[in-house]
Amino acid sequence: MSKITAAITAIGGYVPEKRLTNADLEKMVDTNDEWITSRTGIKERRILDIPGKATSDMAVEAVNELLRKRGIGADEIDLLIMATITGDLVFPSCANIVCDKVGAKNAWSFDVAAACSGFLYALETGAKFIETGKHKKVVVCGFDKMSAIIDYTDRNTCIIFGDGGGAVLLEPNEEGYGVVDAILKSDGSGREYLHQKAGGSLKPPTHETIDAREHYVYQEGKTVFKFATTNMADVSTQIMERNHLGADQVSYLLAHQANKRIIDYTAEKMHLPSEKVLMNIERYGNTTSGTLPLLMWDFEKLFKKGDNLILATFGGGFTWGSIYLKWAYDSK
Ligand code: COA
Repeated sequence: MSKITAAITAIGGYVPEKRLTNADLEKMVDTNDEWITSRTGIKERRILDIPGKATSDMAVEAVNELLRKRGIGADEIDLLIMATITGDLVFPSCANIVCDKVGAKNAWSFDVAAACSGFLYALETGAKFIETGKHKKVVVCGFDKMSAIIDYTDRNTCIIFGDGGGAVLLEPNEEGYGVVDAILKSDGSGREYLHQKAGGSLKPPTHETIDAREHYVYQEGKTVFKFATTNMADVSTQIMERNHLGADQVSYLLAHQANKRIIDYTAEKMHLPSEKVLMNIERYGNTTSGTLPLLMWDFEKLFKKGDNLILATFGGGFTWGSIYLKWAYDSK
């Protein structure tokens, strides 16, 4: 019997309507368009500012889109994995809520929290349930409503993040398409440089934690930048080497959209020309768990059956990794 791989057979995505531009941010904090564009490559981000709407509502849009595209019902989903750090509630998981809202009555579901690497962690996890033959249809989502945990008085962080994401359907394939290889890493000592101080069991919410603005993202940008560049480039080149892929055999690099300079550095180490490096950071900023499925959704029409995609990421934890994916269909 030939080996079963987990192929992506449909994709959905979603970003909220509201745009937060660099010009808007200039009115909120001491910054300017030239600084933001030259340091990060970001021009605008999307913000989910509708009362009563949360991360699950964005994921529901994407899951419904992929079900429509594939022509299947929600009751056919065996497992739904949600990569997020901004679930609707502390518990239950956001995945449970998404399943309820889309009507995935036969699925079990759980969240994966690995910050910006969440989608790759979830993709590799979902792929294993397909490869073992245990499941036939696994949905992997990556979404964050970062605006819920961003301090819009802190110019170090508020310029970077946005809301949105995407979802993919994994199905068994016996011709070698789908997830071919994955390298995933974590180093929890990096928590010092990128975290949310309060709200967890270490520091439950109190009036003091709220007054001290500790329920927002804290980041030491320079240190994170240094680790992100080296580690993302390392795993991306490593996955090429161990799969004997030269730059000419890589169709596209899909790198976590955190900072254009980090992506450019990774592409340079992989010897990839700019036309193979996909970017939408200028339109959406960093949507954390959302960037990679959102990028895949945005550029889906470019992909041909057999294209070799390298996915790469780095995020809070620290967490990082790379996945080699063989695209399974000609996109229309
Ligand atoms: N607008 C204008 N000036 C700003 C600013 C802003 N939004 N934010 C910071 N500055 C200032 C700083 O105060 C500093 O001024 P000083 O030299 O007078 O002290 C100067 O600009 C340089 O700040 P610095 O933090 O050293 O800038 P940087 O070149 O490292 O860029 C980031 C900052 C955040 C864009 C960059 O470090 C980065 O992208 N880091 C990685 C972030 C990331 O990827 N996070 C997600 C994890 S996956």
